[in-house]
Amino acid sequence: MNWDQMFSDTALLMKRSAIREILKLTAQPDVISFSGGLPAPELFPVERVRHATDVILAERGSEVLQYSTSEGMPELRGLIARRLSTPNFTVHPDNILITSGSQQGVDMLGRIFINHGDHVVVENPTYLGMMTSWRPHNIQFTAVPTDADGMIVDELKPLLAQRHKIVYSIPTFQNPQGVTLSYERRLKLAQLLIEHQLPFVEDDPYGELRYSGEKIPTVLEVEAAARGSNTVDGHVIYAGTFSKILTPGLRIGYLVAAAPVIEKLVQVKQSTDLHTSTLNQFITYEIAQDEAFLASHITMLRQVYRERRDLMLRLMDEHFPSEATWTRPEGGLFLMVTLPESLDATEILKQALEHKVAFVPCEGFFTGGGGHNTFRVNFSNARPEMIEEGVKRLGMVLKDAMTVRS
Ligand SMILES: Cc1ncc(COP(=O)(O)O)c(C=O)c1O
Repeated sequence: MNWDQMFSDTALLMKRSAIREILKLTAQPDVISFSGGLPAPELFPVERVRHATDVILAERGSEVLQYSTSEGMPELRGLIARRLSTPNFTVHPDNILITSGSQQGVDMLGRIFINHGDHVVVENPTYLGMMTSWRPHNIQFTAVPTDADGMIVDELKPLLAQRHKIVYSIPTFQNPQGVTLSYERRLKLAQLLIEHQLPFVEDDPYGELRYSGEKIPTVLEVEAAARGSNTVDGHVIYAGTFSKILTPGLRIGYLVAAAPVIEKLVQVKQSTDLHTSTLNQFITYEIAQDEAFLASHITMLRQVYRERRDLMLRLMDEHFPSEATWTRPEGGLFLMVTLPESLDATEILKQALEHKVAFVPCEGFFTGGGGHNTFRVNFSNARPEMIEEGVKRLGMVLKDAMTVRS
């Protein structure tokens, strides 16, 4: 049977995620990997998860093993609503849908908004998982350049004169660059969204992992304020997750959006997997409702990741060749390195793997070419002694590559 002849056009446009393929390569235990977007496993609250599972099975019995609503567990939606609300901005639980990780949320947004041939605005570079998911809709990506303050919103403005369907962005601690959209740009962006009646996806898995600098309100909140509103009834659709502040294995994410968008998403959710795992929602709620625990857990994560980021940056300053430049993120899990144009990060990865150290070349994160000389480095997953050794090895590999070039 020639299965390729049987697959739909959409299925044929799907490709294996380059990230997941690279992760396989670097999974050997002796490789120091800066490649994945993985949180530090030694910081997972294993005992809490075990205890929460025991408690809910003992107290709620078979209820937590039953089917449940597509919108998600009401108590968990209430908790997320409270966590996202501020003195000037109220999120209502009805504006929340629980998803199986925020990746499912991003995928469902592609399904409800995008027609074949639509134009979608993204940062350049952007999150590969979104491109993998939305590309099969046969869309055109329009790339907006970024700098140290995130998407250059002034460059977005002229693009909106043409017909674009939606903007997708990771405004805070972007993947792969680690940069954050400044408050001034958030304000400008909000005005543009309102003026052009344009939906905006704010993908925000890293927002709570800030290690330095001032907290900036979400685009969701800034846009509401720009419309003189204090509720979720505007152009922004926000994707959040417990993956980076608790554990990704539970696969609990959420979307926050205006009521008509949630209604459409519920229909997609029903056709996709009926609902997110009841048991995992209960476990997440049982842990997160202990607000003091969750706050102290996030404080601990910030502390550890801050130390790892600082160590990584200090060692890169010490060991990387002067021709390389890199971003200096205030939070999140990544930074991005840019090499001279004449170097190819994928080629350098091969040499790095010979020295048992890995990163992710960013070429695939760029829409419409470019970026061959850039790569992403994760600083959350490896322990300090591994960061120390890994950056030294990488520095050596990069210096060798520079010498061969000259
Ligand atoms: C920008 C971005 N969005 C979404 C996700 C998916 O996260 P999850 O599905 O675990 O919530 C990730 C994961 O690394 C990410 O970097």
